[in-house]
Amino acid sequence: MPPNDMAPLLEYSEELFAPETETHRWIRAQMAERGFPTIHISPLEGRILAVLASLAGAEKLLELGTLGGYSALWLISLLPAEARLITVESEPRHAALAREAFERAGERRIEVMEGDARNVIQERLLGDQGQAASFDLIFIDADKQSYPYYLDSACKLLKSGGLLLGDNAYWEGKVVDASARDVETEAIRLFNRRLAEDPRFESVLLPVRDGLAAAHYTGPLRQHSS
Ligand SMILES: C[S@@+](CC[C@H](N)C(=O)[O-])C[C@H]1O[C@@H](n2cnc3c(N)ncnc32)[C@H](O)[C@@H]1O
Repeated sequence: MPPNDMAPLLEYSEELFAPETETHRWIRAQMAERGFPTIHISPLEGRILAVLASLAGAEKLLELGTLGGYSALWLISLLPAEARLITVESEPRHAALAREAFERAGERRIEVMEGDARNVIQERLLGDQGQAASFDLIFIDADKQSYPYYLDSACKLLKSGGLLLGDNAYWEGKVVDASARDVETEAIRLFNRRLAEDPRFESVLLPVRDGLAAAHYTGPLRQHSS
């Protein structure tokens, strides 16, 4: 049985496996200085994203919700030189910090697309740039009420065999709090339920920090001809 208090073990894992780079520390300091919300992933979750991306052999990645670029740097950290990550951010100040951070890290594999993720997906990724079924990995971490929409979009953007990841699947415990009926909680519940039941996905919620949804996208449903 694992001990009830996991904190020392999480600290042990983080120290051993997830040391931050100088740029990670710089981003956190800048976020504090610029008054950004501290809603980025933890170093351990970052390392988990990095290992999953590497295991998936991901070369083309999409992140929804950049903030200061903290998770983007983890996602790309174990990937080869040819890997490319597009990260989408609606808040110009956040996008600007992320660009500064990538520049500082000498990281040229990451492109920040500024704008509302729904518009970017519809107009750029699925529209004029025709990037349907081309991503190996999608990490969802933008506005929570759009998670079901992002799930639908992921089915169009992911290659068969791709990996879908979603942060905040526990939503600070509100998914199991019957009195929580707000739009964001309901959206995350719907996202989780659909991931659990949709036959196109092999999914699980990993009990990491605020819950990390991880799903293998097996591909579009086959049409049965009768
Ligand atoms: C939880 S933070 C992302 C944290 C980041 N992934 C990390 O761990 O370092 C969510 C980010 O999504 C952005 N955001 C919220 N709604 C958005 C939308 N509709 N389109 C694009 N970005 C959005 C917010 O401005 C914020 O920077």
